[in-house]
Amino acid sequence: MKVLITGATGQLGLALLKQLKNTDYNVKITSRRKLENFNFECVYSDLLTGEGLKEAVNDVDVIIHAATSPRKDSDIIDVSGLKKLLDISQDIKHFIYPSIVGIEDIPMKYYRNKYQAEELLKNSSVPHTIVRASQFHSFVENLFLSKSLFKRYLVPGEIKFQSVDVDEFAAHLIQMSEEIPKGKTEDFGGPEILTLREMAELKIKVNNESNKVVNLSFPGKLYKSFLEGKNTNEHQKVGKITFEEYLRNRVVHK
Ligand SMILES: NC(=O)c1ccc[n+]([C@@H]2O[C@H](COP(=O)([O-])OP(=O)(O)OC[C@H]3O[C@@H](n4cnc5c(N)ncnc54)[C@H](OP(=O)(O)O)[C@@H]3O)[C@@H](O)[C@H]2O)c1
Repeated sequence: MKVLITGATGQLGLALLKQLKNTDYNVKITSRRKLENFNFECVYSDLLTGEGLKEAVNDVDVIIHAATSPRKDSDIIDVSGLKKLLDISQDIKHFIYPSIVGIEDIPMKYYRNKYQAEELLKNSSVPHTIVRASQFHSFVENLFLSKSLFKRYLVPGEIKFQSVDVDEFAAHLIQMSEEIPKGKTEDFGGPEILTLREMAELKIKVNNESNKVVNLSFPGKLYKSFLEGKNTNEHQKVGKITFEEYLRNRVVHK
């Protein structure tokens, strides 16, 4: 089976490649960068311009579409870019689309674009599976807990996350590539729902830091949606690796 991984240099892309390396899968990857030391067939392709997409899709059976652009031109890359890709993917056996838990209830432009992308897939004739995950452990850590200021993590401590290990989600997507397309499938959530304050306290404990947590709160619907845990799904605690275990594994591998 020939599998195309788009966005191969991203968090999810790299986790997929780590697991696909030295397997029987025939893997092709896309990136806009010059990739050295990647032992895979690599195609330069850009969802913004459409460059290289036909070559990328040519002769593959399955696509795991991990390319995305949350910060810049998301409407073009995540929606119009996906449309361009789907238009030339009519012969694909299975198009796997990673999405995000709760996007219809969270007022954020990127999430609206992801929702529109899901709709494009639902209305397309390309056999597909949409699988939503909650935020990755690494994503939450990098976004909120990568730096302290004057020995303090200044965070919206009451908002909730059900973060999940990116390697577990990658394994789930690879497993899915062996199965028939399902349209939309169950959410892939992390094993526990924690407040950001609890996550910060775990980081302090695991790393033996002297930092303190300072709680911030914000007005508005976006903050409220994370406060209410709209980004979580308590019925789908599928991942096994907790945030604490993720942090401890990182300490061991440092
Ligand atoms: N991060 C999370 O917590 C999380 C949680 C649940 C679901 N997801 C979903 O999982 C998927 C992967 O997310 P991620 O966090 O791994 O993303 P990421 O780390 O931001 O990586 C995205 C990749 O997309 C590629 N890309 C960006 N602009 C592009 C363009 N114009 N044309 C082609 N490729 C482009 C980039 O590769 P190059 O620079 O090499 O081209 C980049 O490595 C997304 O669909 C996301 O919504 C993420």
